[in-house]
Amino acid sequence: MAARTFRKGLRFCEELGLTASQQGTYARGWLGGGSEIVSIAPGSGEPLGRVLATTPEEYPRVVEAARATFSEWRLLPAPRRGELIRQIAEALRRQKRALGMLVSAETGKILSEGAGEVQEMIDMADLAVGLSRSLGGLTLPSERPQHRMIETWHPLGPVGVITAFNFPVAVWAWNALVAAVCGDTVIWKPSEKAPLCANAVQRIVDGVMGPAGFPGVFGLVTGGADLGEKLAADPALPLVSATGSCRMGKKVAEVVARRLGRTLLELGGNNAVIVLDDADVDLALRAVVFGAVGTAGQRCTTTRRLIVQRGVADRLEEQLLAAYKSIRPGDPLEEGTLLGPLIDDDAVSAFERTIETIRSEGGKILCGGKRSSRKGFYVEPTLVRARADMPIVGEETFAPILYVLRVDDLEEALRVHNGVRQGLSSAIFTSSLSSAEIFLSPAGSDCGIANVNVGTSGAEIGGAFGGEKETGGGREAGSDSWKAYMRRQTCTINYGKELPLAQGVHFDFS
Ligand code: UN1
Repeated sequence: MAARTFRKGLRFCEELGLTASQQGTYARGWLGGGSEIVSIAPGSGEPLGRVLATTPEEYPRVVEAARATFSEWRLLPAPRRGELIRQIAEALRRQKRALGMLVSAETGKILSEGAGEVQEMIDMADLAVGLSRSLGGLTLPSERPQHRMIETWHPLGPVGVITAFNFPVAVWAWNALVAAVCGDTVIWKPSEKAPLCANAVQRIVDGVMGPAGFPGVFGLVTGGADLGEKLAADPALPLVSATGSCRMGKKVAEVVARRLGRTLLELGGNNAVIVLDDADVDLALRAVVFGAVGTAGQRCTTTRRLIVQRGVADRLEEQLLAAYKSIRPGDPLEEGTLLGPLIDDDAVSAFERTIETIRSEGGKILCGGKRSSRKGFYVEPTLVRARADMPIVGEETFAPILYVLRVDDLEEALRVHNGVRQGLSSAIFTSSLSSAEIFLSPAGSDCGIANVNVGTSGAEIGGAFGGEKETGGGREAGSDSWKAYMRRQTCTINYGKELPLAQGVHFDFS
């Protein structure tokens, strides 16, 4: 099985233009001259490819290219920048299948989710093309006669984008494609755990930007946390967008703040679904299983807590158990698999440590809780009867572990819901208009995303994506998230012959 997966891996990497070497791995190509980073396929535990890290000598060259290109790119009319993003969207459409399979092979996502991630890139590109003709500012009334006030949005500069392994290509697209139509250039540091996906995307993008004469708009650097820190500390990058753990985000925020730069943070989640007694339980069940088990529990938006009202708790728990028992971990590249592996052995160890902690804190494992016997990094989907006051329930473990917490009413549900440090995504299942509206009111969910009769994961790109509290406060993707990638200029224009001062101040001299 593993060998077959691996051979499939070879085929689609070739389709994407990544070079296969004799050993069945991928030559680094053109992106680095440093130490070797081996990409391991989580589905088999075998190497899938290799890239070379960016060296300390290469890094300033990438920054210089981004800086030099910025001075021209920012002056190109935004719709013309959008036209190049439209061509990237076309190239992504052509490569959707191969790139989706590479995402699956390198991260262990199932095929449909790998393809879904590339679709998310395409959607983002389409959104960015539209934006390129609508990056509008306000006109504001001036208190002074024959004056006009406007807000103009200008490009910000080269932007650093640090992405995580779990969405190795879509999160780049959220940031980079919007930043590019805004007139910024981008330096991307992908996760060391998904360097092939980044190389493949870079190759696709270079195929458009190179011939167009703007090869420096999108740059790629490869390396570990020290390289991320270098980006964060670099005054050439007015904005650093980072996706990953709260721990990583705090570090990035600190380093960027030291130079008073800007950050855009999308960090950990501890997302809950509230299910009230009046809910459509079948609907809730489907949303919770996808939210908790999908992507093997490795989305920022994964459902980690199920807060269920006592009247439906037994029924929902029973249905969940049946569903969980029917889902076996399997090869992510095999049609029909619903649960792929975790990213690596460390992730499996973190899962095992969490299971021990759950037991020691008095939680009851209803099913799962073990590493699977398959070769690769597979764990069983795990359902836990827990209490909200167990410290482990407040932590994000990137694995398919769902805590079931029983509550008496909406009030208690909301208290439990908001009683964690993270604030990304949230959902309520209810048929009561009043309960739904309370959940969406200022006294309801404290998260950046709040859904009614829709699960916590799988957000569309049209909305702004991000969360509060330790999730970092950033907003990416749709709505007016583009503003984060631009600088705002307030302009006052006097078309009269007088120079009246604001606030009625007089300053007459002779
Ligand atoms: C993430 O896990 O970092 O809403 C992003 C979702 C996806 C994005 C997740 N559209 O689940």
